[in-house]
Amino acid sequence: NGLAEGQTPIVIGVAADSGCGKSTFMRRLTNIFGGDVVGPLGGGFGNGGWETNTLVSDLTTVICLDDYHLNDREGRKVTKRTALDPEENNFDLMYEQVKALKEGSSVSKPIYNHVNGTLDTPETIEPTPIIIFEGLHPMHDARVLDLLDFSLYLDISPDVKLNWKIQRDMEERGHSLESIMASIEARKPDFDAYIDPQKGLADMIIEVLPTALDPEDKKTLRVRCIQKEGVSDFAPCYLFDEGSKIEWTPAPGKLASPEPGMKLAYYPESYMGADCQVVEMDGNFDNIQELVYVESALSNTKTKFYGEMTQAMLALAEAPGSNNGTGLMQTLAAFAIRDLYEKKSAVAKAAQKAAAASA
Ligand code: ADP
Ligand code: G6P
Repeated sequence: NGLAEGQTPIVIGVAADSGCGKSTFMRRLTNIFGGDVVGPLGGGFGNGGWETNTLVSDLTTVICLDDYHLNDREGRKVTKRTALDPEENNFDLMYEQVKALKEGSSVSKPIYNHVNGTLDTPETIEPTPIIIFEGLHPMHDARVLDLLDFSLYLDISPDVKLNWKIQRDMEERGHSLESIMASIEARKPDFDAYIDPQKGLADMIIEVLPTALDPEDKKTLRVRCIQKEGVSDFAPCYLFDEGSKIEWTPAPGKLASPEPGMKLAYYPESYMGADCQVVEMDGNFDNIQELVYVESALSNTKTKFYGEMTQAMLALAEAPGSNNGTGLMQTLAAFAIRDLYEKKSAVAKAAQKAAAASA
């Protein structure tokens, strides 16, 4: 398998509703980790027609939790439950397999086929140094949650979610507005009951809201990166001065922005009872290259050199969110995960060395 002698994987959970930008985030993450991608990229996460939902590179494996659906689409018609209902998901198997992978063992993972709505022949998954579990419920089961080294929740506000769904399902897939709204309505009770509460458990929440700069503007986004304090191997990113409360309108000559303009902020917040630090970006920017100006004001970005964040944004310039805070905060999250991985593997290596020396 892809692990060095004695190495154990770190496990990351990414929770979000479908259509909330998980695939895009995975692209940003794998872009930063590098390595040759040997599995399907794009299309595998909830919307593809691949024979597998799993994305694998030398370093990372991304497992889609839809694979742990208990029943197939026909089966859900019989039970009359949605895929968001925990009763429709096999948490015992999910737990066993997260645990096995984390211990360095391979597993035989089911495959949920999104095109046919069937459960296909399981596939063998070998552990890699980083394993990402993304989907509806990575934090729902306490046993699975306990195995996660870091957890992220992508919180897309209802208005924005509807806009994105319209863009994808209406413009790209030909669905009607009525059917999109009906499907959101039908899912809402289970979403509120089982998916949304996980954000209270996440180490980082990326919250996407309509802009606060102009009440008439329904397109521009305000994005908050809510970072929990006291998470091991994770120091929150901050703007200018740690612990301060800051509002910043960048000089337009240095960061050009279309209407309604651009505003950044940094402040402490108690989020669902937890002490957090929030970095916020409201508005779009015209030119990704000018992000170096914002990058110069941020600390604890976990980049290896000044400009690396801007470079990562440029590498995926065509991806959704590359002109606003969604791309920026997702990139910030990706660097935090890389840093966490490097810190944890350095500790493991040191322990191994010490053990070898005393043997
Ligand atoms: P998921 O994998 O969670 O289903 P995707 O990454 O495929 O979500 O995104 C679903 C759709 O939502 C995209 O096709 C795009 O239209 C829209 N979208 C996602 N992220 C953004 C973003 N940051 N800005 C604008 N639109 C986005
Ligand atoms: C996956 C997605 C869910 C979606 C389901 C469709 O599980 O993650 O968000 O609801 O597929 O299932 P359906 O019952 O509509 O076939």
